[in-house]
Amino acid sequence: MSSTIHQGFSLIDNNSLGIPAVCAACFDIQDVAEIEKVISGAVSAGQSWIVLGEGTNVVFSQDVNGIVIRPKFSGIDLIESQENEVVVRVGAGVNWHELVCWTLDQGYYGLENLALIPGSCGAAPVQNIGAYGVELNRFVERVDYVDLNRFESKSLTNAECGFGYRDSRFKQDLKDRALITHIYLRLSKIPSVCVDYPAIQAYLKQQGMEPTPENIFDAVCTIRRSKLPDIKDIPNAGSFFKNPIISADHFERIRASEPGCPGFKQPDGSFKVPAAWLIDQRGWKGKMFEGVGVHQHQALVLINPGHKAGAELLRLAKNIQQDILQAYRISLEIEPRVI
Ligand code: EPU
Repeated sequence: MSSTIHQGFSLIDNNSLGIPAVCAACFDIQDVAEIEKVISGAVSAGQSWIVLGEGTNVVFSQDVNGIVIRPKFSGIDLIESQENEVVVRVGAGVNWHELVCWTLDQGYYGLENLALIPGSCGAAPVQNIGAYGVELNRFVERVDYVDLNRFESKSLTNAECGFGYRDSRFKQDLKDRALITHIYLRLSKIPSVCVDYPAIQAYLKQQGMEPTPENIFDAVCTIRRSKLPDIKDIPNAGSFFKNPIISADHFERIRASEPGCPGFKQPDGSFKVPAAWLIDQRGWKGKMFEGVGVHQHQALVLINPGHKAGAELLRLAKNIQQDILQAYRISLEIEPRVI
């Protein structure tokens, strides 16, 4: 099947921040054989290229001086079925939430805490998506990709993906080098739920619901809808910063002056602190600055209702980073990919 080409392409509807960036052309790819042709064509025309999923975790800081490649590999296939487990192979172009709904319908469990995360399945392992006590790496069996230096199909096992908190090798040594075509997830036929997150427990209790995967799915959808702006209504890219991890000493010093500061102890003794709390404490929540701002219900989410350029958002992000550095000696790292 050949790729679809869109020339002189506006990316405004292709990034959830609604940034009005443009690129020279956009190629939708459904076939591994097309990749080499499209990239070689761009290189010989002196153009750069980027790979874009659904654009829900990117900030275009400028126009793309070249082409955009969108992997549209489709299909969800059951490739292994045992008594208690299955392995499903999912095309990179499948929408993540659609996959979550499909797995629940089939009675394959595990992904319910990750409901409603925007974006495509191919992008999911890049930042190791996570929410409500669960991260994707718990389920990844392997990831197939095309090495864009050699145009070779390759596969990484879970251990080889180098997963971390919102991190993987696809953001590190394989950045701009791997085009993910399929992911393989190992899911359980036996419901085994994760209700660690207090907000989920509270919701189930309030509704008088049992902690079944279906009810957790409902809880996660309700909680997300109440806190996080829908990208269809208010342009955003989810959390704009990672939650910082600081030393126990540093955390104690902050707690001495701010006893309410939440912190989650990590296995190595350090503490993960909610960036939303820090930003909220400094009074940024709900503030708007000529079309860009900080969401009124979640201080970690920057919004772009004015469809401003990425540079405007990055200016706001920098001001927040400087303020948090000055106030708490913590440097916040931007979570979405800045292009
Ligand atoms: N908080 C505030 N003010 C706010 C929001 C939160 O003070 O405006 C404090 C509260 O104390 C709250 C704590 O921050 O208990 C944590 O907030 P929340 O539970 O909303 O989670 P988060 O740490 O802000 C992370 C993920 C989200 C994920 C939620 C739920 C990151 C960068 N973000 O946010 O992921 O949905 O937990 O698990 O890890 C994303 O990555 O785009 C994303 C939305």
